[in-house]
Amino acid sequence: MHGQPVEPWFEANRAWWDERVPIHLASDFYGVDQFRAGRSTLEPFEVAELGDMSERSLVHLQCHFGLDTLSCARLGARVTGLDFSAPAIEAARQLAVATGLEARFEVGNVYDAPDVLRERYDIVYTGKGALAWLPDLAAWADVVVGLLRPRGTVYLAEFHPFTDVFADQDLTVRYGYFGQPEPMVDETPGTYADPSAATTHNRTGEWAHPIGEVLTELAVRGLRVRFVHEVPFTLFPRWPFLERGPDGVYRLPPGMPDLPLLYSVRATLDAADEEDGPTRADPPR
Ligand SMILES: C[S@@+](CC[C@H](N)C(=O)[O-])C[C@H]1O[C@@H](n2cnc3c(N)ncnc32)[C@H](O)[C@@H]1O
Repeated sequence: MHGQPVEPWFEANRAWWDERVPIHLASDFYGVDQFRAGRSTLEPFEVAELGDMSERSLVHLQCHFGLDTLSCARLGARVTGLDFSAPAIEAARQLAVATGLEARFEVGNVYDAPDVLRERYDIVYTGKGALAWLPDLAAWADVVVGLLRPRGTVYLAEFHPFTDVFADQDLTVRYGYFGQPEPMVDETPGTYADPSAATTHNRTGEWAHPIGEVLTELAVRGLRVRFVHEVPFTLFPRWPFLERGPDGVYRLPPGMPDLPLLYSVRATLDAADEEDGPTRADPPR
């Protein structure tokens, strides 16, 4: 399927993430001290759309150092987090101990998750900068189905791929929308959480995944899509002219036409009509 082997890209990407773990742990962006003091890192719309998770088992794919995973534990879920960065998982385990939250954290590539975890879950949760690191969404959807219990749910909140067609400083259309087998290569030093951080592992490969591809890969495996919400705000300053509101999210300034900056999907395996949990709630605005 792919023009070049993906293993070297996994290695490069993992080195990029490993190096950024201590930078992110110390950053205002992640706010680890506030998290330790009890703050949830889940967005209010995620909590509403995930629905009641008390006593439900949840696996968080690409969990980084586990802040969102542990925020789910605070809402009563029995949580597992998986990430291919060993320093991230080590930090996640330490945060679980420090906050007294029960959690299982394992090192592994997403594509190996069913073999590494050997469990099935009520909820697969992922997103907020996860899918772009994955070369093959068909194989990812196989993993999701392989991790779900009967009637289990996948919930995904992801940056809208439409935002990636534009330049970084303005809305000049610079890139194609549709995914390519070859990765998009970036060599920018620093990180979104601290652009001025000194870093040496700067080369990454990422892949674009249009929403149609995501939904189709879930649907063809029998997952019933409960909603797809396209949302006019995002969680980081994608362009310098976005304005941060009192709710902490970033929007286009008043007077500019709205664009979709984020999207969320909830889909359920073998869902019956009476399946509980959020279905077609109003999209967040
Ligand atoms: C932006 S983070 C995930 C979002 C999370 N909500 C956060 O910001 O803390 C992306 C994560 O994906 C992980 N990752 C990237 N490619 C992966 C892969 N193939 N298998 C497992 N983890 C991967 C990275 O190590 C990183 O922790």
